[in-house]
Amino acid sequence: MPYLPSDSRYDSMTYNRVGRSGLKLPAISLGWWYNFGGVDRLENMRAIARRAFDLGVTHFDLANDYGPPPGSAEENFKTLFNQDFRPYRDELVISTKAGYQMWKGPYGEWGSRKYLLASLDQSLKRMGLDYVDIFYSHRPDPETPLEETMGALDSAVRQGKALYVGISSYSPEMTREAARILREMGTPLLIHQPSYNMFDRWIEGGLLDVLSGEGIGCIVFSPLAQGQLTDRYLGGIPSDARASKTERVWLTPDHVKKNLPKVEQLNELAKARGQSLAQMAIAWTLRNPVVTSSLIGASSVKQLEDNLAALNNLKFSDEELGRIEEILKS
Ligand SMILES: NC(=O)c1ccc[n+]([C@@H]2O[C@H](COP(=O)([O-])OP(=O)(O)OC[C@H]3O[C@@H](n4cnc5c(N)ncnc54)[C@H](OP(=O)(O)O)[C@@H]3O)[C@@H](O)[C@H]2O)c1
Repeated sequence: MPYLPSDSRYDSMTYNRVGRSGLKLPAISLGWWYNFGGVDRLENMRAIARRAFDLGVTHFDLANDYGPPPGSAEENFKTLFNQDFRPYRDELVISTKAGYQMWKGPYGEWGSRKYLLASLDQSLKRMGLDYVDIFYSHRPDPETPLEETMGALDSAVRQGKALYVGISSYSPEMTREAARILREMGTPLLIHQPSYNMFDRWIEGGLLDVLSGEGIGCIVFSPLAQGQLTDRYLGGIPSDARASKTERVWLTPDHVKKNLPKVEQLNELAKARGQSLAQMAIAWTLRNPVVTSSLIGASSVKQLEDNLAALNNLKFSDEELGRIEEILKS
């Protein structure tokens, strides 16, 4: 069936301004790291992407290496874009990134101009797009001068291949320096994409202050700690869950088991708030106004819908925030 997006797609979503830019992003965005690769079912990802857009999720986040196998999420994006979303290109913010290993040899990863610009060309081809809205340096490169990496981002914009640029997982100090370099080049640093969830709070140690001071947006990834801050693992580790998949080395059964006692207590608190744990975890990442968007993943339409309903209650009392701190320290 041809896709006709819902007429009410802008009725329930909140759109937040990205730092001091002209761009707004949905408070909840959809990431294509997992569940959109060559190993996944196209019809499931189509259903998730359509439902997301129908509910006002105007931002899909990709990277050159998303899959598995690497590159396949961008290829699947091309299929879905051509079949479903092409008429709505101007209603969508599409991002991609380069930084992790994508091809063999010395030019296939990190932050050189050689790698970043070649990777962007490859991504555009795989995605069937003329330009992306945001192009990211996916990780800081300790060996390449920051001027070179930021210069490549600036070139991507000047070549018309990206509208805005971002960085991911850069320290507060490198972020300030990156912003200065880009400002001098005339291409503002739009956004930073760091990890952030109740178990991973590194951005509270300086990065949020830098972003606020510099007027840079913030889209936080893995707000559910890859599924741990949901009901996914409350009854054991399901065989189809991310922690069971051997190629998903970023989340192991050991992580899940270690955090489970806290997750159980957080789940009780979420219930008392009348929310699912996933909803409370997403709302918690959005409590600081410096955070523009919470970047979730979902393996089903049901999970996506559960997560988007977080927007129905974003407020926390001081008592609830205190209780979360207690649980996390327990
Ligand atoms: N910049 C970077 O370096 C970087 C790194 C990582 C991620 N990211 C971005 O951030 C996005 C999100 O990352 P993430 O997938 O780790 O985010 P996440 O939202 O923390 O985890 C998503 C996973 O949690 C489970 N889940 C989601 N909603 C659920 C619900 N309502 N109930 C039960 N389980 C639920 C699903 O696991 P199952 O699959 O087991 O069902 C889903 O795949 C990525 O797609 C990517 O765009 C960026």
